[in-house]
Amino acid sequence: MKRRTVLTTGCNAGIGLATVLEVAERGHRSIGTVRSEEAAELVARAARDRHVDVETRILEVNDAEGCAEVVDAIRPDVLVNNAGYAIFGAIERVPEEDARTLFDTLVFSPVRLARLALPHMRKAGWGRILFMSSLFGRVAAPPLGWYASAKHAIEGLADVLRMEVARDGIGVVVLEPGGVRSPMLEKAERESARYPAGGFEESNRLAGARIRQTDFFRADPRDVARVVLTALEASSPQARYLVGYDAQIIGRLSPMIPSWLSDRVTRLVQGL
Ligand SMILES: NC(=O)c1ccc[n+]([C@@H]2O[C@H](COP(=O)([O-])OP(=O)(O)OC[C@H]3O[C@@H](n4cnc5c(N)ncnc54)[C@H](OP(=O)(O)O)[C@@H]3O)[C@@H](O)[C@H]2O)c1
Repeated sequence: MKRRTVLTTGCNAGIGLATVLEVAERGHRSIGTVRSEEAAELVARAARDRHVDVETRILEVNDAEGCAEVVDAIRPDVLVNNAGYAIFGAIERVPEEDARTLFDTLVFSPVRLARLALPHMRKAGWGRILFMSSLFGRVAAPPLGWYASAKHAIEGLADVLRMEVARDGIGVVVLEPGGVRSPMLEKAERESARYPAGGFEESNRLAGARIRQTDFFRADPRDVARVVLTALEASSPQARYLVGYDAQIIGRLSPMIPSWLSDRVTRLVQGL
């Protein structure tokens, strides 16, 4: 196995933290981005506990100059576009400005980082770009409409990018986890309190309750990290990897279910 330089964004929690540790343990050079010194210290502690080396860089992914500085300094062989968050709320209730910032973080910034990394990968004659999408890159349900639409967008971009860079020895892979045990959804639910619920109180409450009820069913972030390793080390990686039982089942079944039926069931469950 060749030792690669792997840059993972958003590495102080959840999937990103599991990924930088797993990648380092496997013997690759593992660099993760964080947004504060405190977060860097948390990652350093986790790496010490695991007896591995993880480097960190401070990066807000929506800062274009910062992205260029980090990518040019590291010249990654592998870019894991992981940083992200969700917005929990009905489409009509989420302010447009918040939706735009979500699209910046989940769509424009990962693509910017990929564009910055591509010349280095081309020069090296090999590279791999991973996009942390979601089962919500395939299906969509309330109250995650804006999040699902951003994940759908990144999947479309990844599908085209994959064909555009294949001749340069660069692979583009989409990861599609279902529910993962991380702070992301609870945080999204907490922050949704600032949006006027106006008519969606009950459906938001039911969605929040379901997140808590299904916690036991969610995948461990390390399961996703292991698939990241598979995708970066495979000689011919798949275009997309569904991660977790829920993703495997729903991701495969949903194209066979007519919209009228999935709408009915979702509305019933969501109280809509
Ligand atoms: N959790 C799930 O169920 C799930 C399922 C499928 C896909 N995913 C995807 O997996 C990825 C990681 O999610 P997670 O569950 O591990 O979430 P998480 O535990 O909340 O971690 C998200 C990471 O992204 C960072 N981040 C967010 N916005 C950023 C920005 N503008 N600039 C730089 N860093 C930023 C966070 O940094 P701070 O700590 O500074 O905010 C944190 O390090 C996301 O893309 C998410 O959409 C998650």
